[in-house]
Amino acid sequence: MSLNKAPRNNVFYRNQNWMYPRIERGEGIYLIGENGKRYIDGCSGSAVANIGHGNKEIAQFTKEHIERIAFTHLSRWTVDSIEKCAKRIASWCPEGLSHVYFVSGGSEATETAMKMARQYFVERDGKTNKWKIISKWNSYHGATLGSLSMTGTIGRRKIYDPLLASFPKISQFYHYRNPWGAKSLEETSILAAKELEMEILSQGQDNVAAFISEPVVGSAAPGCHPEKIYFDMVREICDKYDILFIMDEVMAGSGRTGKKMASDHFQAKPDILVVAKGLSSGYTPIGAAVCTTEVFETIMVKGSGNFIHGHTYAGNPLSCGIADKVMEIIERENYIENCAIQGEYLINKLDELYKYPIVGDIRGKGLMIGIEFVKDKETKEPFDSSVNVKGKITLNCLEEGLVPYPGGGSVDGVRGDHILLAPPINITREEVDLLYEKLETAIKKLSEQLF
Ligand SMILES: Cc1ncc(COP(=O)(O)O)c(C=O)c1O
Repeated sequence: MSLNKAPRNNVFYRNQNWMYPRIERGEGIYLIGENGKRYIDGCSGSAVANIGHGNKEIAQFTKEHIERIAFTHLSRWTVDSIEKCAKRIASWCPEGLSHVYFVSGGSEATETAMKMARQYFVERDGKTNKWKIISKWNSYHGATLGSLSMTGTIGRRKIYDPLLASFPKISQFYHYRNPWGAKSLEETSILAAKELEMEILSQGQDNVAAFISEPVVGSAAPGCHPEKIYFDMVREICDKYDILFIMDEVMAGSGRTGKKMASDHFQAKPDILVVAKGLSSGYTPIGAAVCTTEVFETIMVKGSGNFIHGHTYAGNPLSCGIADKVMEIIERENYIENCAIQGEYLINKLDELYKYPIVGDIRGKGLMIGIEFVKDKETKEPFDSSVNVKGKITLNCLEEGLVPYPGGGSVDGVRGDHILLAPPINITREEVDLLYEKLETAIKKLSEQLF
């Protein structure tokens, strides 16, 4: 039964059990409530507001762009800002990724990648069976039916299961809870990659179009990442069995992990890379699927020349212009370098939190850091979901003036509590210290509440 805490108005809120404090405005790393309370946006919404709130340069640019041109349909026109944005995105991607298909968000981007992979094989080989996308448990790739079919978060899938495509799932590189009893991250990385080969063999390579992975896991098991060998092996396996590799950088991309794309940490070489969220820092909805020249030319030059896909707002000049401006600011202000420096500082500082009995695991890259809570550090036993640890830590943090990104279900779809820390990547050292102080107070209080 719902707790009916949401405000009574005409909005269909996402969760009727939440009270939705009203935000008046944003300023740098802060969200400011109508009562004047200041919250450090410790998760940038959901790893979105990468350059922080209230950026005046973006506001001015947006005004001028709207006055010049706000909308044209991508099926008929091109505009300088669309081309400029595509060029800059390609320059941020690993070498070889050259053509940018614009959409309006992350789910549209992963769904586009899925269709692109399918059409690639149809155009290349004529009639083909290749259609399955192998993905992983403890992954999130979006909420639309295609992207949800690739998603491996049980809680998000369960109710829609009858509507989903039956795509195969393998284990995540979730070292803390790896199913093989692996002692090192390298071992987990190798065993997780080997599962891909086993799954391709069991499905039959002629039925598999692509494999999709996040480089650093977002909401499903925040901060988990493999060692480089994982993506080396994935590339090798995909080449061996003629399968495309899709990298989902919706959350981890766009500077969030201290590199332009998180793929760069592993020198990963995907055939299609998807971005959204931080791409525009939340100043406008936008996403993109970026493919190699081989994929582009197979469909668009040697093939039919027509990608059977499209959304009305995809590639609108305004969103492209804003995203390009955001990337320009990030480059000019060296925010990615800042992210790497502050991320390392923060994750080292967070080590101190292991003194609390409920802090089980801390992992991440750059300013994309996950903290997992446990009932028993030795056995890694999670709290029962009825204890609502993720709800409690959220309330404690908000009380301190810090916004975390809570999540759960990483153990068995229901149990397992964690938070993601992903503050704006232009956060200063002093602001990181303040964030840490607030977080530690909230965790100390949670420990006392639970034991
Ligand atoms: C890795 C990843 N892929 C895809 C998505 C879906 O993006 P959106 O919510 O913009 O549709 C998300 C959203 O959290 C994500 O984290």
